[in-house]
Amino acid sequence: MIRILPSVLAADPLRMGEAIDRVLAAGADGLHVDIMDAHFVPNLSFGPALVKAIRGVYPQVYQDVHLMMDNPERYIDTFIQAGANALTIHAEIPADAAQLLKVIRASGCRAGLSVKPGTPVERILPLLPLCDQVLVMTVEPGFGGQKFMEGMLEKLRALRTAGYTGAVQVDGGVNLRTGPQCVAAGADTLIMGTALVRAEDPAQVIRVCRGEAQP
Ligand code: DX5
Ligand code: ZN
Repeated sequence: MIRILPSVLAADPLRMGEAIDRVLAAGADGLHVDIMDAHFVPNLSFGPALVKAIRGVYPQVYQDVHLMMDNPERYIDTFIQAGANALTIHAEIPADAAQLLKVIRASGCRAGLSVKPGTPVERILPLLPLCDQVLVMTVEPGFGGQKFMEGMLEKLRALRTAGYTGAVQVDGGVNLRTGPQCVAAGADTLIMGTALVRAEDPAQVIRVCRGEAQP
């Protein structure tokens, strides 16, 4: 089963609730929330208040929280308390990623590890037993609406060749064309901002990406 997680970063911040209602009604499997700290990436986005607000209005909705932060270790508890179901940290942070993945799992949350485009997937192979999900960035993290980097497809194949059976997510420039390519290469979770949240017919985008309809 292919899971589709819309990235709320692509929503109009003043109409966030409407955008969320729309993608959930279209059949999305949950929401992807991008947390940016202006250090790890050159942009600022949301904080735990958004995760908490979503949890308050949608008690059952799966929240996949992507921590693009230099120091996620200081915020893990806060995001779990706010209602995150999955927390993804980056392999490039100064802290001991293995230790953090253990802390996240021990808290009852799914633990995820992400690699930026310049980070070889071989670097995280020893950590895979600690990961419920791996997120392969298919753009430089920081902004929505960028072009998908085709060269990242190889990383998806490498993860599956290495025997990884957990969830493999892709994030950045995923659309009707690139989404099915990612699935063919081994991804099972598509994170989609612009191409889904701003689509005229989000339900059709989801069906095509799940292989249930023709483009
Ligand atoms: C980028 C974020 C993505 C972003 C994807 O740094 O991690 O989640 O919202 O947006 P699109 O799908 O527009 O590339
Ligand atoms: Zn993201």
